[in-house]
Amino acid sequence: MNTRKRILSGIQPSGTIHIGNYFGAIENWVRLTREYDCFFTIVDLHAITVAYEPALLPKRVFEAALDNMAAGLDPERCTIFVQSHVPEHTELCWLLNCVTPLGELGRMTQFKEKSERERENVTAGLLNYPILQAADILIYKADAVPVGEDQAQHLEFTREVARRFNGRFGDYFPEPATLIGRGARVMGIDGASKMSKSLGNHIGVVEDPDAIWEKLRPAKTDEARKRRSDPGTPDLCNIFSYHKLVTPEGEIQEVVAGCTGATIGCIDCKKIFFKNLMKVLDPIRERRQALEKDPERVREALQEGARKARTIARETLDGAKKLMGLLS
Ligand code: TYM
Repeated sequence: MNTRKRILSGIQPSGTIHIGNYFGAIENWVRLTREYDCFFTIVDLHAITVAYEPALLPKRVFEAALDNMAAGLDPERCTIFVQSHVPEHTELCWLLNCVTPLGELGRMTQFKEKSERERENVTAGLLNYPILQAADILIYKADAVPVGEDQAQHLEFTREVARRFNGRFGDYFPEPATLIGRGARVMGIDGASKMSKSLGNHIGVVEDPDAIWEKLRPAKTDEARKRRSDPGTPDLCNIFSYHKLVTPEGEIQEVVAGCTGATIGCIDCKKIFFKNLMKVLDPIRERRQALEKDPERVREALQEGARKARTIARETLDGAKKLMGLLS
């Protein structure tokens, strides 16, 4: 019997994964596959809560699988599947809808931000998004959920849904812990908001290195450094926050000394970051290119993943239905 604790996490198929996704979540997922029984899902049903192009969705889902597998998720060591391939998630979502007070949904930060952006098309799906996310997690009775900081509120909400269900129908769902990754909140290349594909301020994990450098070269640094001879404050520089993710400690100290003592310029500092970033991204890009040549392997992994996930999801769903008086 498998006695390892269980983890579930999810990612939207938004076209490409960026270094915010990687250092906030995926890097942690890969590490956790060594200790936990891990489930990772590509959340296509969440992706349709905002305007999208149906013809592009299958490609995006497939690319999300390729990217995540290239980033280190090995289907031999964890279960990777597409959310809509496990229809039990949506059935549990309905049951959880019926224990969730409406008022809480409108208070979710992500709902407020997205409904502001999507003004013409605020769907009930967008409002109910966190209930589906709670279903994704609770259907595997996950012990913990590794995410970036932006998902912390949805996880607090998930624990509340579990508490409400348990309070009404009997102790059934564990309250999952939140595990925040090393890059809890990676800022965008503009230095102004969180890195996000929809804001176009991202560095893609499998993006062409020359294109990454073209984004980095003009990127904002400490504003006090107008000339190379102006000393800077690393903690006020967005590029320095990136350094902390990839640059070894010794080299970080050199960057700090060079910036505060004005012995290196911002371009030199960016070059050091770029070199260290490529040490992480080069092998991922290479694995991605190899996987692209073997799409069948990826498809099979997703099918097998859905099969494994469904067995557990079915059992949890049946238990919840029984408690609710829906299965005799
Ligand atoms: P999504 O697709 O926006 O992001 C996937 C993961 O990447 C993290 N992340 C970041 N971390 C640090 N800095 C950033 N700039 C950054 N941008 C993204 C996110 O925190 C997330 O961990 N609602 C979820 C998907 C989801 C889910 C779930 C997650 C659906 N069901 C169940 C966990 C459990 C989302 O939109 O993530």
